[in-house]
Amino acid sequence: MKKNKISKDWLNKKKRDPFFIKSKIYGYRSRSAFKLIEMNKKFKFLRNNTNLLDLGSSPGGWSQVAKKEINKGKILAIDIQPMDKINNIDFIKGDFSENEIQEKIKKYFSKIDVVLSDMATNTTGNKNLDSYNTGELCLKAMDLARNILHNDGVFLSKLFMGSIFAEINEKANKCFKKVVKYKPSSSKKESKEIYIYCKGVL
Ligand SMILES: C[S@@+](CC[C@H](N)C(=O)[O-])C[C@H]1O[C@@H](n2cnc3c(N)ncnc32)[C@H](O)[C@@H]1O
Repeated sequence: MKKNKISKDWLNKKKRDPFFIKSKIYGYRSRSAFKLIEMNKKFKFLRNNTNLLDLGSSPGGWSQVAKKEINKGKILAIDIQPMDKINNIDFIKGDFSENEIQEKIKKYFSKIDVVLSDMATNTTGNKNLDSYNTGELCLKAMDLARNILHNDGVFLSKLFMGSIFAEINEKANKCFKKVVKYKPSSSKKESKEIYIYCKGVL
């Protein structure tokens, strides 16, 4: 198939995607914004005074949603990609797993209520490898979350169903009191993406 035809098909598919259209109407930077809206409706973890860390924040859809709910709490967004400024949200460009960035996170908050991770690695074309790599990010984010969250804190992370899922599930159940796997309706049906919601550090 010609390259032009592929990109035209891709564009047409996007234009038919109701969440893509809604993200344009509501001014969200990503269609992912609707995943966080839906998960917050279900689990109710964003409050006016929540202190929140948004890992893998760029282009900023989740941060925009968090900002709408949080007025008194602090929001820190982190991504290896740049992110355009959102008022009252601080952003650090870098890899969250580096010691230097983790020290900055710890200095920024006196107490953290919610750690979000929508992080995903660049796709390689090999779905098993992609799901494994993104699963590793989820495991590393979980390590950070259990270190920095207060006792009743929430960790919510993207992962892709695949070989690493059992390890993530087992670790989550060892580290948190409540663990729920959830696929928002705005997550594409053909995608292996799901989210793991964890509450209460053990
Ligand atoms: C699906 S996008 C996030 C979309 C975002 N939640 C939104 O609503 O706009 C995944 C992001 O994870 C970021 N990412 C991947 N590995 C990372 C890492 N080690 N540290 C920080 N960010 C990372 C990527 O750069 C990418 O921007």
